[in-house]
Amino acid sequence: MAAKLMHAVQYSGYGGGVDALKHVEVAVPDPKADEVLIKIEAATLNPIDWKIQTGVLRPFLPRKFPTIPGSDVAGEVVQAGSSVKKFKTGDKVVAILSHANGGALAEYAVAKENLTVARPPEVTAPEGAALPVAALTAHQALTQSASIKLDGSGETKNILITAASGGVGHYAVQLAKLGNTHITATCGARNLEFVKSLGANEVLDYKTPEGAALKSPSGKKYDYVIHCAMGTPWATFEPNLSAAGKVIDLTPGPSAIMTFAMKMLTFSKKQLVPLLLIPKTENFEYVVNLVKEGKLKTVVDSKHPLSKAEDAWSKMMSGHATGKIIIEP
Ligand SMILES: NC(=O)c1ccc[n+]([C@@H]2O[C@H](COP(=O)([O-])OP(=O)(O)OC[C@H]3O[C@@H](n4cnc5c(N)ncnc54)[C@H](OP(=O)(O)O)[C@@H]3O)[C@@H](O)[C@H]2O)c1
Repeated sequence: MAAKLMHAVQYSGYGGGVDALKHVEVAVPDPKADEVLIKIEAATLNPIDWKIQTGVLRPFLPRKFPTIPGSDVAGEVVQAGSSVKKFKTGDKVVAILSHANGGALAEYAVAKENLTVARPPEVTAPEGAALPVAALTAHQALTQSASIKLDGSGETKNILITAASGGVGHYAVQLAKLGNTHITATCGARNLEFVKSLGANEVLDYKTPEGAALKSPSGKKYDYVIHCAMGTPWATFEPNLSAAGKVIDLTPGPSAIMTFAMKMLTFSKKQLVPLLLIPKTENFEYVVNLVKEGKLKTVVDSKHPLSKAEDAWSKMMSGHATGKIIIEP
């Protein structure tokens, strides 16, 4: 019997940016025993998606060409693999697809059962699809790297969140607010009020001298920096950190890795800590539940139909999204 076909957007080699994206009809994937097949209702993009296309993770990712990019989806289970216990046909879910296989820019995708969570009716498909990489990264940075207790029980910590208007940053501000924190944030001038409305105590325009220096207007020294922006030298962080301040770097380049190693080798109290997202089901359920309870909101930068995925890709590559970019079939 002929395989059922679906619309998808894929690329066939490294580089080429938006021009290399092609609209194709391909077979709907078959779920393995531990996977569910999801009819996608919304997907989102993350910077790693276009960075993988440039070849930054070659030869590891993507695992094969052509590849359908994207890892974050929300939709409905239409088929469950033979060993899947938690989900059945008709369940609404949010899932994170492996970066090795991708698959979000399509009508259907397969996801591992352990990286799929139930989506309650209070959480719309775009709100859910926006969460996986961005909200889980913000959650991991705050709770694991920075040891912030999101029930507010810890002692007060001063934190700086850079690029607080972006996908990760806008969740990080809201999550940090649940903990006992004083939040300084950076963003562009157009988003100062927006970032304040998310819960930041003080906000700096990153294009001003004070913003570039990351200096807290109230003179706070940061216990933790959740560094969602890129390319800031250690010398800029150093004078702004408390005695044992830590910079949690989401996009560490070669000089950040050198700083990380030097700080470790010299037993420095001030540290730079590279972060790599390791998604965990319980954290995934936790952030979905916060959205259900109205304690965490997804801010949508823009919505694009799958037929115009190029517009979403260009916006993502520009690095100027406010919140999350959503793609709908
Ligand atoms: N390590 C991991 O596992 C992991 C996981 C997730 C993300 N990441 C990385 O984390 C970074 C952030 O991801 P994201 O999804 O939040 O990106 P994003 O949504 O593309 O961030 C865009 C936002 O950043 C702001 N921005 C850009 N440069 C800035 C600066 N120097 N200071 C302050 N704000 C700035 C932009 O504001 P304007 O438009 O006003 O310029 C825009 O609102 C990316 O490099 C991503 O690859 C890493």
